[in-house]
Amino acid sequence: MPGAIYAEGLVKTFGEVRALDGVDLDVPEGTVLGMLGPNGAGKTTAVRVLTTLLRPDRGTARVAGIDVLAHPDAVRRSIGLSGQFAAVDEYLTGRENLVMVGRLYQMGGREAKRRAEELLERFNLGDAADRTAKTYSGGMRRRLDLAAALVVSPPVMFMDEPTTGLDPRNRQALWDVIQELVAGGTTLLLTTQYLEEADRLAHDICVVDHGKVIARGTSDQLKARTGGERIEVVVHAADHLTVAEGVLRAVAKGEGAVDPHTRKLTFPVAGGAKLLAEVIRELDTRGVEIDDIGLRRPTLDDVFIALTGHAAEAAENGDGKENGHGNGKGGASGDRAGAATTKEGVR
Ligand SMILES: Nc1ncnc2c1ncn2[C@@H]1O[C@H](COP(=O)(O)OP(=O)(O)O)[C@@H](O)[C@H]1O
Ligand SMILES: [Mg+2]
Repeated sequence: MPGAIYAEGLVKTFGEVRALDGVDLDVPEGTVLGMLGPNGAGKTTAVRVLTTLLRPDRGTARVAGIDVLAHPDAVRRSIGLSGQFAAVDEYLTGRENLVMVGRLYQMGGREAKRRAEELLERFNLGDAADRTAKTYSGGMRRRLDLAAALVVSPPVMFMDEPTTGLDPRNRQALWDVIQELVAGGTTLLLTTQYLEEADRLAHDICVVDHGKVIARGTSDQLKARTGGERIEVVVHAADHLTVAEGVLRAVAKGEGAVDPHTRKLTFPVAGGAKLLAEVIRELDTRGVEIDDIGLRRPTLDDVFIALTGHAAEAAENGDGKENGHGNGKGGASGDRAGAATTKEGVR
């Protein structure tokens, strides 16, 4: 039986750009799919198609068993809250906004207040709870948006890079709330640029690049393919790179990267601190001077190197702007499929 989020052969082009190039998805009920990919990979476009805000050129999709193209209104009711993100009312206080969302979704007054209180606390908005949302800073506003999305738990939820721009404390708070929702049976599609986040929250991960799913599996399977932790060495002199590379290759678990400009070598390893000590000794024995060395967990870039042999590249030529098309997250409740495209600038 197809899962709570199901898509087959989704294609969406914007002029020359194939934002979605034949995407298939199947997310079993009550699980989290982490959609992992760099800027411009097509994540937001996928979320917008699945949340009925954008019509695909080709393909089919069902959310909570309902055809996205045939019955968008019914889909919107099952994903309930994705439409709440843009629904924060500037002239209401943070608390009033959250209570209002609860009431809209048929919570009793006391229950809505209790949930609002809890979320304000969790997202560190307690002190600002009784100020109108229009006085909030960007970060506070963002946290209020997230809290509004989490007041009730619809059967299916979409979160598009929910932690981008959150500080570590609020990121943790969001992760905790997400885990509770999922424990309560919600199916979630979460997009992220952070392997760590997908690893932490998702049962399954799909890696997208240029509108295509280039890998999928559990986080363990993906990590096995990407080779787990990394050893990273910066050598003092460029002419030591070759010797250092030989030392690292001898212990590496897979393909690594050597960057002559930064004099940095990165290789997947297993063996932790003990191996690190051995590598330091070996490099020392061979007269390689080290500027920096350490172990770190794999990142999205490592996944890309392991899967494609090259680093992830942003599709938009590096203006450093994250999430250039807005945070999507299922978008505004009032938008109709198609109309939403005009909100976003074409570069
Ligand atoms: N409304 C649009 N008009 C033109 N191009 C778009 C539009 N939305 C997305 N794109 C392009 O489609 C590709 C995928 O974008 P997007 O889905 O936003 O990626 P992600 O969310 O993974 O960063 C990018 O190359 C982006 O520039
Ligand atoms: Mg995006």
